[in-house]
Amino acid sequence: MTRFRITCLALGLIALGGTVASAGGSGGSGDAVELPSPELGVDVPLHQALQERRSVRRYQDRPLTLAEVGQLLWAAQGVTDSTTGYRTAPSAGATFPLEVYLVSGDVEGLAPGLYRYVPNNHTLRLRKDSDLLAGLHASGLQQESLRAAPAVLVISAVHSRTARRYGARAERYVAMEAGHASQNIYLQAAALGLGTVAIGAFDDAGVAGVLSLPGNEQPLYLMPVGAR
Ligand SMILES: Cc1cc2nc3c(=O)[nH]c(=O)nc-3n(C[C@H](O)[C@H](O)[C@H](O)COP(=O)(O)O)c2cc1C
Repeated sequence: MTRFRITCLALGLIALGGTVASAGGSGGSGDAVELPSPELGVDVPLHQALQERRSVRRYQDRPLTLAEVGQLLWAAQGVTDSTTGYRTAPSAGATFPLEVYLVSGDVEGLAPGLYRYVPNNHTLRLRKDSDLLAGLHASGLQQESLRAAPAVLVISAVHSRTARRYGARAERYVAMEAGHASQNIYLQAAALGLGTVAIGAFDDAGVAGVLSLPGNEQPLYLMPVGAR
């Protein structure tokens, strides 16, 4: 039997609500929101999370906590070695082409809006302070899971970071990396009793427009998330 274990936080032990600090630092523009530490409490065996991983498209009508979204973001791209900057998911040549965003609708302690996850210091950077979920639902081909979710994680990619080193092969490497990050989110959601689904069918330009993504960034996955 596997001895690998996925840890998940003991809900309620971690304080709710983010600390809003002033803009600045290495994470880009916008207010910074400190996320609860991805320190961990309850153990869920990896084989159990794998067994329970499922695409979930309906969610309970309750908000997510900041600890829950923080844990999901950490699972997607969190830094696990502060010396190298290496992350929870592998990256071709450690070129780290992925960006992860949180589109918040109903998250305790977090105003609705668009936030960029900054792996190096496990914070969020506010990008837009308006509710973007309706726009995401429209650009996501009106998929019901996008309408129902209290929050959506978006995985996007800056291909040039990887193409600089690997040329045309970067296209497949970047897609592979999005898959790694997405599976991490799936497994972490299962371990937390949350549900998510990897959505690849959407209007690329529409999603990029709703999120005001830079021109060199391509959205790859939308992952609505909520309580199972
Ligand atoms: C690349 C990719 C794109 C997907 N796109 C969508 C999507 O647009 N909408 C959706 O509801 N599910 C989407 N899914 C989820 C699949 O429908 C789902 O994984 C499949 O039905 C198997 O179910 P399971 O994930 O519960 O095992 C996608 C999955 C992958 C891997």
